[in-house]
Amino acid sequence: MAVSGRTTWEAAHLTFFGKLGDRVVGAPSILAADFAELAEEVRRAERGGAKLVHFDAMDNHFVPNLTVGPAVAASLAAAVELPIDAHLQVTNPDNLIPSFIEAGVVGISVQPEVVTHLHRTLDLIRTGGCEAGVALNPTTSPESIEWALPYVDYINVMSVNPGFGGQDFIPEMVEKVRRLKVMTSVPIEVDGGITVETAPLMVEAGAQILVAGSAVFKGDPATEMRRIIEAGERASQHFS
Ligand code: DX5
Ligand code: ZN
Repeated sequence: MAVSGRTTWEAAHLTFFGKLGDRVVGAPSILAADFAELAEEVRRAERGGAKLVHFDAMDNHFVPNLTVGPAVAASLAAAVELPIDAHLQVTNPDNLIPSFIEAGVVGISVQPEVVTHLHRTLDLIRTGGCEAGVALNPTTSPESIEWALPYVDYINVMSVNPGFGGQDFIPEMVEKVRRLKVMTSVPIEVDGGITVETAPLMVEAGAQILVAGSAVFKGDPATEMRRIIEAGERASQHFS
């Protein structure tokens, strides 16, 4: 059957998000790490229980910042055990998706605000054997991706404007997570301003993948990652 359909496709390709079940997991964002020792920074967060690496690619067009691309993702994938989730904050993601797939990442999320043919882009990601995500700007409505949901393996709810680490959490995004949970069972990742204080709010609303940059790398990454995960897990138990 077509790659877009889940039935045969999921058995072979749902490697991380599709196998999450009801777990709450932590994902360090490399944006706040020391890039000179990126692999070691990831291993430090892994010692704190991280299960995924969040890899922010930025192009100075969609966002004012400029970071790293597929070459660094390939080096990191070869150096660390954790799977990598690439968050493409770029205006022409289709141009980069094949290289990120080749680099060995497990998931690729795109910003629908800059994708003209979202179905085609999600299909490109899945065809390459990766899980496909959409990352929603704070003012992008959940309903705008309703017809894309059959082709989406995870949703990244941005709780800051994309582009920089260390910004203030936007509290209305808790309600957005809640709304998405009513619409879909696709796992929800939250990204931006996630801390020991905000992680429980997002988990109570239904989020499962906690991306955190500055809150992890501001101190000992293992300790800080563990604190965030445990805060999320407590909220999850409280919720269920
Ligand atoms: C922002 C990025 C985030 C960023 C989060 O555009 O998508 O992943 O690293 O950083 P913190 O956790 O510091 O808000
Ligand atoms: Zn991100």
